[in-house]
Amino acid sequence: MKTALITGASSGIGKELARIHASKGGNLILVARRTEALEALKEELESTYKVQVSTFTQDLTQLHAAKKVYDFVNHSGLEVDYLMNNAGFGGHGNFVDRPLEKDLEMIQLNVTALVELTHLFLQDMKARGHGKILNTASTAGFLPGPLQATYFATKAFVVSFTEGLSYELRNAGVTVTALCPGPVKTEFEHVAGLEGGNMFDKGASAYKTAKSGYDGMMKGKVIQISEFSLSLLIRVFLPIIPLKWLSAVVEKMQTVPKK
Ligand SMILES: NC(=O)c1ccc[n+]([C@@H]2O[C@H](COP(=O)([O-])OP(=O)(O)OC[C@H]3O[C@@H](n4cnc5c(N)ncnc54)[C@H](OP(=O)(O)O)[C@@H]3O)[C@@H](O)[C@H]2O)c1
Repeated sequence: MKTALITGASSGIGKELARIHASKGGNLILVARRTEALEALKEELESTYKVQVSTFTQDLTQLHAAKKVYDFVNHSGLEVDYLMNNAGFGGHGNFVDRPLEKDLEMIQLNVTALVELTHLFLQDMKARGHGKILNTASTAGFLPGPLQATYFATKAFVVSFTEGLSYELRNAGVTVTALCPGPVKTEFEHVAGLEGGNMFDKGASAYKTAKSGYDGMMKGKVIQISEFSLSLLIRVFLPIIPLKWLSAVVEKMQTVPKK
């Protein structure tokens, strides 16, 4: 029975990743800031499936947060077979007009915590000769991101980091996968301040997205774009579209009506 640690498990894609893993009989360690939401999910999963779920409340933007998660796992006598670095948030607006602290927090969560957790748990996985890592990136990682420049850049980091790392680990028995969804209907839209636009109207479901990521991770894929149409767009059309045009399209998509 494999144990998965999922960050950002209190809502959206992370919550669905937890449900999928539990439905396969896997144990879980759930991490996020909202204790009540984590406890409610623990209760749901333990009463539905024969699994053991641990929860750890942690703001991953805090200094030494990743080490605290790692220490919790070790002190609890647990071993992480699958690490799912999923917690993340976006933020709308021109970079220069946004509070810098918010963007630094975003980098801390979307990039630094992901790198720290990966480094800590990967050492154990490598020593054991097996393990899987799933990083929730985004199709934003392949695009310029006017009106969400920092967010898109954090996801470009996650894509690149995953690609490099997966090659380094090709003979280690450990795989690393980047899940790259387009718009998904979760709390992300509200948290990012993107409500009022129409980008999420036809967004994918959190379940479908999580299923795609989970399956990609199990197969050891490096890049898992969660929808075929987006995959086609990114792999075939993106390389031939001029940067200026692409930036204009993305900016339009990120524009929300003034309140
Ligand atoms: N929704 C989309 O359109 C979309 C598209 C592409 C990629 N993604 C990526 O998918 C991932 C999951 O997002 P989602 O769409 O499922 O959004 P969501 O519903 O807002 O979930 C975000 C999760 O991250 C956790 N989180 C946020 N800040 C945190 C912090 N400081 N410390 C610890 N945990 C924190 C949240 O839990 P707490 O609030 O309880 O801490 C929540 O569980 C993110 O990395 C996002 O960038 C989303």
